Amino acid sequence: MDEKLFAAVDAFVSETIVTEDDALRGAVAAAEDAGLPAIQVSPPQGKLLQLLVRLVGARRILEFGTLGGYSAILMARALPEDGRLISLEANPDYAEVARKSIEAAGVGEKVEVRVGPALETLPALEEESAGPFDLVFIDADKVNTPNYFAWALDRTRPGGLIVADNVVRDGTLADGDDADEATRAQRRLHEMLGDERRVDATTIQTVGVKGYDGFLLALVEPA
Ligand code: SAH
Ligand code: DHB
Ligand code: MG
Repeated sequence: MDEKLFAAVDAFVSETIVTEDDALRGAVAAAEDAGLPAIQVSPPQGKLLQLLVRLVGARRILEFGTLGGYSAILMARALPEDGRLISLEANPDYAEVARKSIEAAGVGEKVEVRVGPALETLPALEEESAGPFDLVFIDADKVNTPNYFAWALDRTRPGGLIVADNVVRDGTLADGDDADEATRAQRRLHEMLGDERRVDATTIQTVGVKGYDGFLLALVEPA
């Protein structure tokens, strides 16, 4: 696996067609300064999220896993004026870093970061009838990706999109004997979707600065 080459191509794409501004660079720097792991989506992946937000015409977005707010800022920027994004983050320190960067990026009005393990904060969303959502980005604890997907599927409008990051996991997705719980969860999700008529889905493998991984994309069908 030529990680250097993948990173070089990401750098070229980032320099040419995916330009980051000071606020995005600031969000990455603030996260690094605060000791957060540098596991945010890459700039080209972030741009894909923005294009998807626009293609779907999203006005309501739900994100699982805020980290330092990088993907939240990107998606919020692709929303229309009245668009809203709710992002769920388990770590209160990360959420605080994210809130500051989100505010500094000028999208504080559009984005709400909710603290707590997502499975514990979802019931409140349900009570507030926060959905239906137009786009859901699942990028938190990987063992729960199938649970988040199942929750999201009931609350994403027809024509809406559910995106899950980190489903390929260095290709371990193809290994039925892999013991890693996170990988097993992605396999279970795929097996679940094989029989799921409510979505039309695919998984796209990716290489880049973040190594070898991939996104699952699921379009919600009309009822
Ligand atoms: N979407 C971010 C990256 C998220 S990294 C970006 O691209 O910028 C994964 C995040 O999920 C981490 O911040 C981690 O703290 C958070 N997380 C882990 N377990 C969680 C849980 N049970 N509920 C909500 N967030 C969780
Ligand atoms: C990890 C999480 C991510 O969302 C990601 O894109 C890469 C790595 C992690 O938890 O290690
Ligand atoms: Mg991820």
